[in-house]
Amino acid sequence: MDPVSRRRFLSRVTVAVSALIAALVGAPIVGYLLAPLFRPPQAEFVDIGAVADFDLGETKLVSVRDPSPLAWAGQTAATALWVRRRTLEGADAFQVFSVNCTHLGCPVNWNASAKLFLCPCHGGVYYADGTVAGGPPPRPLFEREWEIARGRLRVKAQRLPTVKRG
Ligand code: FES
Repeated sequence: MDPVSRRRFLSRVTVAVSALIAALVGAPIVGYLLAPLFRPPQAEFVDIGAVADFDLGETKLVSVRDPSPLAWAGQTAATALWVRRRTLEGADAFQVFSVNCTHLGCPVNWNASAKLFLCPCHGGVYYADGTVAGGPPPRPLFEREWEIARGRLRVKAQRLPTVKRG
């Protein structure tokens, strides 16, 4: 092999190895960018239990898996909802609240004896109907749409709520 063809050979090997490294590095990035196009559609309503599991006048915590913007979200897609059963104009009704405080997103706790939601992070307080009773929260708890189908309570699937700031 003469020196010129050896130089050409080494140049081509360098280009090929560089292209291989670029493909190995670039494939995950392209996959990340294209993943939303191939994600299966989310079920619009998610079953969270039988209506009979919720006592009238009580507020109960249920676990739910939220649709996540990331396919590999794993455990971080697991969240919870506070479900309040009540009657409204004589009919069965529910309020389904996101567990996240509307201030900075900490999970709120339900204090049954005081009938208040309490946020452990900065002292936010909400009434049983989700309206703000005190502290820094700028708005009531986020509510989910719900429906009853064949004796089962179902809530509309949605991403975790966030507060838009100006
Ligand atoms: S996160 Fe709840 S009061 Fe700040």
